[in-house]
Amino acid sequence: MAIIVIDGEEMEVADGSPIADACEDAGVPLGCRAGLCGSCVITIEEGMENLEDLTSEEEDMGLGESQRLACQAVIRSGKVIASY
Ligand code: FES
Repeated sequence: MAIIVIDGEEMEVADGSPIADACEDAGVPLGCRAGLCGSCVITIEEGMENLEDLTSEEEDMGLGESQRLACQAVIRSGKVIASY
């Protein structure tokens, strides 16, 4: 089981699963869910190493070093702390 913390709200998700639904439950605004609109940008404060590598959609978005798209990121295991 992996843990994602969004703005202090902690949720458990299965190892290797997308974080989109947990982020949406925590209030992150998801729009297209396809990596195109940019509405779901989150800032990773801790645990970037626990996320799978950037998707091509995230690379195309030109995100900052600590930013990810909530609709695209997949958690490997462990804990990720983020804010939006
Ligand atoms: S919801 Fe549109 S980029 Fe994530």
